[in-house]
Amino acid sequence: MSSLRAAITAVSGWVPEDILDNHQLEQMVETNDEWIQTRTGIKERRILKKEGAGTSYMATKAINSLLEKRGITANDIDVIICATITPDLLFPSTANLICEQIGAKNALSFDLAAACSGFIYALETGSNFIKSGQYKKVVVVGADKMSAIIDYTDRSTCILFGDGAGAVLLEPDEEGYGVYDSILKTDGSGKDLLRAKGHGSADPLTPENIIKGEHFFYQEGKAVFKFAVTRMADVSAEIMKRNNLTGDDIAYLVPHQANKRIIEATAKRMGVGMDKVTLNIQKFGNTTGATIPLCLWEFEKDFKKGDNIVLAAFGGGFTWGSVYLKWAYNS
Ligand code: UT7
Repeated sequence: MSSLRAAITAVSGWVPEDILDNHQLEQMVETNDEWIQTRTGIKERRILKKEGAGTSYMATKAINSLLEKRGITANDIDVIICATITPDLLFPSTANLICEQIGAKNALSFDLAAACSGFIYALETGSNFIKSGQYKKVVVVGADKMSAIIDYTDRSTCILFGDGAGAVLLEPDEEGYGVYDSILKTDGSGKDLLRAKGHGSADPLTPENIIKGEHFFYQEGKAVFKFAVTRMADVSAEIMKRNNLTGDDIAYLVPHQANKRIIEATAKRMGVGMDKVTLNIQKFGNTTGATIPLCLWEFEKDFKKGDNIVLAAFGGGFTWGSVYLKWAYNS
């Protein structure tokens, strides 16, 4: 069997400067800091306010600093995959717009929509481009401008989300580092519990749909919570078992940041202490496709070459999964 794997060789991220904290939300809807922190773990989130700037703007910032860190140019990139559910436009793809903004002329590019699992789906996809042997530099970026689809009069959703982008570079590795395994799943019966309806071909944007608020993010939080808590924990336990890993073998769990309680349940099931879990939900909230790469970016300084790292996510669809990788460098 080939020992060629896709290793993460650089990470970067970008979040907007503007902060929306729980106290500001108290002025906007009937809520309070204590409720939000106890139920979700979130204290504040970032909001992209720059006029005319969409998801590609944030992704471009993250990728430009990624390239600078690795000392390569945009023309060195072979593939760009953008995991997002808030594309700038219906088409061309956000990845396409990113290519133009960073000046990438040699890359194939496309968007991947798997909601909050988007980044791990895109990572597995990017990993297979590398394993084909045909592509040497693959950028996987998770980016979402959630503020564009949030109803800031709905207290059940507006407290949860923020905007941001995180990117990784994948390169071939034959020395035992990189992506070892992944389990990715879908259950389409979740489609009515977590969605944004009024943008698509089945239910296009019409004045009536806008008045009904169909273009906004919608979630049945309690029902989604139950699925998320079991599915994310189950799949993470499954990937550990399949790779003969115990909690002690795991250096870090890097989970999607939707709710601190879901993260705690997953860590407990894996036998991993919270000291080995990357958390930034308190600062950024749920940035959908960006939560996991933003965590990788923030915790990169703590990761050591050879660390066993498990990524886990759950999101709309439903989609969920886990990826097991060995970290490839010391920073
Ligand atoms: O990332 C994609 C996947 N998404 C997720 O994984 C999210 C999963 N769901 C959740 O994280 C949680 O369900 C929420 C954080 C969204 C909600 O927490 P909860 O503990 O499930 O609360 P709840 O919806 O059951 O609401 C409990 C109470 C209700 O009042 P009553 O009926 O008990 O009187 C709500 O009306 O809290 C009320 N409530 C609020 N109170 C203050 C709902 N939102 C708020 C709020 N502030 N913002």
